[in-house]
Amino acid sequence: MKQNIKRGRYERVYSQLEELIKKSDNLIAHKATISAVLYHKFDYYFWCGFYEIIEGELTVGPYQGPVACQILAKNKGVCWAAIHNKETLVVKDVEQFPEHIACDSRSKSEIVVPLFDKNDIVYAVLDIDSIDIEKFDEIDVEYLEKICSMLKRPN
Ligand code: SME
Repeated sequence: MKQNIKRGRYERVYSQLEELIKKSDNLIAHKATISAVLYHKFDYYFWCGFYEIIEGELTVGPYQGPVACQILAKNKGVCWAAIHNKETLVVKDVEQFPEHIACDSRSKSEIVVPLFDKNDIVYAVLDIDSIDIEKFDEIDVEYLEKICSMLKRPN
């Protein structure tokens, strides 16, 4: 997808999501809506969803795409790396990422955006996979962070 087309699409998706999430005050409903809209608007997404830290483990939340791991082993893989670094992580080729967790072997590149609670502690992540390498870039980072900042921060 050309950069200007990608940017334009993210702009429209952002506006659409702003309207949609006004319809409820529920964080799970917001995450479900975000994953569904993103997944259906971007053809290079293969899997799109949320993982949440529950009792020290990452547990899958609302998502779209093929069935994923329900629990991710602690301190391994891309999601945990983004949590520890407290910043968005783009992995251009997951096979080059040490201890990447392959819930589905078709995934080839990935982006993970951490979500922060009111105390600036990471409590969850947005994770998106593509079946092609090098699919995510600075435009995905910019807009996915902006979209995640729509989510109300829990206590
Ligand atoms: N690849 C992720 C695991 C989640 S799946 O991509 C849906 C990781 O290494 O943390």
